[in-house]
Amino acid sequence: MKAFKLGILAFGMCALPALSAFAQVSVTIDAAKPGPTINKNVYGQFAEHLGTGIYEGLWVGPQSKIPNTRGWRNDVLGALKDLQVPLVRWPGGCFADEYHWRDGIGARNKRPVKVNTHWGGVAETNAVGTHEFFDLAEMLGAQTYVNGNLGSGTPQEMAEWLEYMTSDTKSTLAEQRRKNGRAKPFKVDYFGIGNEAWGCGGNMKPEYYANLYNHYATFLKAPKGARPKLIASGGNDDDTKWTDVLSREAARGTDGISFHFYTLPTGKWDKKGAATGFDETEWASTMKQTLRMETMIRNNVAVLDKNDPKKKIGFYVDEWGTWYDVEPGTDPGFLFQRNSLRDAVVAALNFNIFHAHAERVRMTNIAQMVNVLQAMIITDKDRMLLTPTYHAYKMYIPFQDATSLPAVVANDAGYTLGATSVPGVSVSAARAKDGKLYVALVNTNPRKATDVDLNVAGQAVNAVSGQVLTADAMDAHNTFDNKQAVKPAPYSAKASGGKMTVTLPAKSVMVVAVEG
Ligand code: AHR
Repeated sequence: MKAFKLGILAFGMCALPALSAFAQVSVTIDAAKPGPTINKNVYGQFAEHLGTGIYEGLWVGPQSKIPNTRGWRNDVLGALKDLQVPLVRWPGGCFADEYHWRDGIGARNKRPVKVNTHWGGVAETNAVGTHEFFDLAEMLGAQTYVNGNLGSGTPQEMAEWLEYMTSDTKSTLAEQRRKNGRAKPFKVDYFGIGNEAWGCGGNMKPEYYANLYNHYATFLKAPKGARPKLIASGGNDDDTKWTDVLSREAARGTDGISFHFYTLPTGKWDKKGAATGFDETEWASTMKQTLRMETMIRNNVAVLDKNDPKKKIGFYVDEWGTWYDVEPGTDPGFLFQRNSLRDAVVAALNFNIFHAHAERVRMTNIAQMVNVLQAMIITDKDRMLLTPTYHAYKMYIPFQDATSLPAVVANDAGYTLGATSVPGVSVSAARAKDGKLYVALVNTNPRKATDVDLNVAGQAVNAVSGQVLTADAMDAHNTFDNKQAVKPAPYSAKASGGKMTVTLPAKSVMVVAVEG
C-alpha cells in the first residue's frame, strides 16, 4: 500500500491518490496559473557513432545510390525535419571520450581509420566529422550539442576544437576551417565536457571530475556572443552525489549538469528484457521502472535548489530511453532493438514528467535518434520506417516552447498487476505558441480503456480534437512489411450536458487541443 501511494505521489502535479475505484477519472487544468516554459530542447535527440546510428542510418556518403544531400540520406532527413528536432547531441556518449576531432576534418579520403573500441570494435572511418555534423544540424534547423573528449583528450585539444569551430579571427585554426570549406564559424550551442566520467568516461570520483571540469573549462574560449553553454557531466540512476558535488564545485560558467537514466524492463543489466514478445509482467515492470524518472529528477532538483537557489543551473537528462536485450542475431555492440507501442507509452510518460519539472529540466536527449536503443527511425539499407516513439515525439510537438499549466488527476484507481502498481493515467497540459491549450494523456493499463472527464477551471470545454496512438498488441511495432502497423489516428470528442469526457483506449497516448 505504501509503495502504491508513493507511486501516485511520485506524479507530483500529475496525479492525486485514488478517491474511489468507481468514480470516474477526472483531469482538472488551471489555465489561469501559467507555469514555466517547456524548453523545446526537452525534445532533443542523441546521435552517437555507434552501430548503424550514424553510418547507414543517417550518413550514406555522397556517392551512395541512396538519395542523399551531401552524404546525409534524404528519407531520414525528411522524417527528422517533420519531427522538428530542436537539438542534436554528437558524437557520443562513450564514443566522445575517445574521439579526437582532428581525425574528422579535411579530405574524407585522407582521414584516419580508427577502431570504435566501445561499440563493436568496428572501423570508424571518420567520414562524419565536425563539418558533416554541422551540415546535418543546419539542414534540420536544430541547435547543436557537441560533446568534448575529457577522458582521453587534453585541455589543449578541447580548447582548439572550440576555437576551430567558433573563431572568426585569422588564427591558423580558423583559417584551417575556412580551407576545409566553412567560411563563417559554426554555431555551437552547447558543449559537454566529457561523458559519464563515473564510467566509460574515466571511472572518476565526482570531486576529481569537478577539478578536471574546472581545469578544462578555464581554457574553453570563444568569441563574445559565440560561447556555448557548458555542460558538466553528471550522475545516473538513483545517485545525487554528482549533482551535489558539481553544483557546488563546478558551477562556474556551467549551464547545466547532465544526468542519465535508462529504462530496463527487469531493472537488471545482465538480463534487461526483450523489445518485443514480452508478457504483461514486463509491460507493468517497464511502466514502474520508467516512472522512477520522476523521483530521480525530484531528488536531484532538491539538491540543486539547495546549492543553486537562483536556479542558474539546468538539469539535463541528456541520455534516457528504453534499453532492452539486443535483437537476436545482431551485433551486441550495436545496441539495435525493435521499438513497439510500449516505447511510445514510455516516451510520453517521460515527456509528462519532464514538463512537470520544466523549470530545471531544460534539455533532454533521447538515446538515440536512428537504429540505436529507443530510436525514432529504423533503416535497413535503402529502406526506412518510423517507430511508435517517432509518432509520440511528433504528437507532442505543440509542447515545444509551450507554457506549462497545472493539471491534476483525480479518482485514478491506478493500474495494478500482481505486486506492481502504477498510476493509470498520466497528464500534462500547456498553452502552446499557437495560443491553443493542449492536453497530453497516457493510459498505462494495457487491458482497459478509461473514460476521463476533462475540466479547465473557470471555463467551459466544448470539444477536443487531436490524435491517439494505440494498437491491439502491447508489442505492436512497425516492420518493413507493414510500416503503418502503429500510427496515430485522429481523435475528437464533443462535450455533452456540459461535461467533456475523453475515452483513453488501453495502452494509449493521446494529445488533443481543447476548444473552449
Ligand atoms: O547511449 C549508449 C551509451 O549509454 C552511451 O554511449 C553512454 O553514455 C551510455 O552509457
